[in-house]
Amino acid sequence: MDEVKSIHFAPPVATSGSEPSRLKLARSTLNRQVNIPKMQFHARPTAPPTQRTACAVVGVFEHRRTSSAARLINKASSNGIARAMRRGDMDGKVGSSLVLHDLGGIKADRVLLVGCGARKAMDDTRYRKVLAHAADALNKTGARDAIWYLADLEVEGRDIHWKCRQGLETCRERLYRFDRLKSEATPPARLSRFTFGLPSKDEASDATRAITTGSAISNGVDLARDLGNLPGNVCTPTYLAERARELASAHPHLKAKVLSESDMKRLEMNTLLSVARGSREPAKLISIHYTGAPKSEPPVVLVGKGVTFDSGGISIKPAAAMDEMKFDMCGAASVFDTIRALAELELRLNVVGIVPATENLPDGNASKPGDIVTSMSGQTVEVLNTDAEGRLILCDALTYAARFEPDVVIDIATLTGACVIALGAHASGLFCNDKPLGDALLAAGEYAGDRAWPLPLWEDYQEQLKSNFADFANVGGREAGAITAACFLARFCKEYRWAHLDIAGAAWLGGSKKGATGRPVKLLTQFLLDRARGE
Ligand code: BES
Ligand code: MN
Ligand code: ZN
Repeated sequence: MDEVKSIHFAPPVATSGSEPSRLKLARSTLNRQVNIPKMQFHARPTAPPTQRTACAVVGVFEHRRTSSAARLINKASSNGIARAMRRGDMDGKVGSSLVLHDLGGIKADRVLLVGCGARKAMDDTRYRKVLAHAADALNKTGARDAIWYLADLEVEGRDIHWKCRQGLETCRERLYRFDRLKSEATPPARLSRFTFGLPSKDEASDATRAITTGSAISNGVDLARDLGNLPGNVCTPTYLAERARELASAHPHLKAKVLSESDMKRLEMNTLLSVARGSREPAKLISIHYTGAPKSEPPVVLVGKGVTFDSGGISIKPAAAMDEMKFDMCGAASVFDTIRALAELELRLNVVGIVPATENLPDGNASKPGDIVTSMSGQTVEVLNTDAEGRLILCDALTYAARFEPDVVIDIATLTGACVIALGAHASGLFCNDKPLGDALLAAGEYAGDRAWPLPLWEDYQEQLKSNFADFANVGGREAGAITAACFLARFCKEYRWAHLDIAGAAWLGGSKKGATGRPVKLLTQFLLDRARGE
């Protein structure tokens, strides 16, 4: 299914000489597996007017104010930029852009002016918006290479490393296409060489590190999007297991293990198996182990919901937009591809990814509302609604997680429609039983531009899960649906530090932009980067 394309992975400029060859090999094997665009990223100090390039990308502000790169180009081209702005073709507002051709006195064939809004106080959100417009405008030109001067714009509290990462990740995000299932592919982007123009040598090593990190993260995001976008008839539990094996075989520090339904029966994972009863596709419990630190170091365990299609089961969903329930494995995708990113970066950490994978379908053999099942933990659950299946597969996976003696456990799941109502697409819902863990995830999301927002896990909500017949029910009524789902999971996570990310709103977009976002790969990778650095 997966087309293997030739892959270029730009080596980090400053470190490529010193890199052990085993590592280089590992990276190139990883990248050969997948469909990663052939864009090369570089960084170097450059004087904007003297640099030969097909396109120089510079920022301009409202009221005809210019960035420092724009000012230098303007001066060398005898006011070429100022003239265009005075004519009113570019007002500097966010979202505006203008391509100037053949300005005299400089070596760039084109100059792309990118509107940055008011000169004062650029924040993260505005900067990202500016970059997205810049990347789109750049892709519309015919340029094969470009020099990007937007990393020297001032952004409150952000350094060159952050700005280069945002630049790279935004460009990669805007270049992403999923057309492998169309008979005619969209022509590849012409742009193939992208250089961050730096004000001085001092920024070079930070920028280079940003390219290495940003590329690994973008590779992870792209793959998570691919996996999410694949339809349910391709991306089955067995397909997910295959992908995990393939990923593991591409890197010496990765190992994959796949449990079958009979293995799960032996482990008494009855809530997980109760969801799989209605499906002809066998369920899998997939784990991927990344060993980047001594074995004695307790791992971070990531648990990802892998429902490859959620029809609701006997409590069947309405037909409208049911196709979007192919995205119900985006938690699983984020686990695989976060692990992929950290393997590419060779982080000094141990991480275990666990993915319970199944379909949720109605059938003569499917679980029925009112059925009572005994989870692997021994707690009994009354399945009042078969559409609340995510928590049923996660609870056994979370019990299983304890055997890895984790330092922390984080589950990632497209768990509730209620979370979409609460937070929309802008933030993942965050729940935790450990404040420092929650704070670290919030901070990582903020930095990476993949935010989460906290919701309470108070004891008060647990009452909604009361059952007359079992230890508790799998649903807690209409009120606070995202919270009662998290409360359900909390009952299986008492023995370790745990956080839950409800990514139901963040993992994919609907409507004309329908498609997986790759979230929260950026958040998770940043969290792991921070941990590996001991922050
Ligand atoms: N996968 C869905 C959650 C979901 C729904 C995500 C819509 C994104 C958009 C989950 O399995 C589910 O069906 N949850 C139910 C729970 C309810 C029955 C308590 C829901 O949210 O409606
Ligand atoms: Mn469901
Ligand atoms: Zn679901």
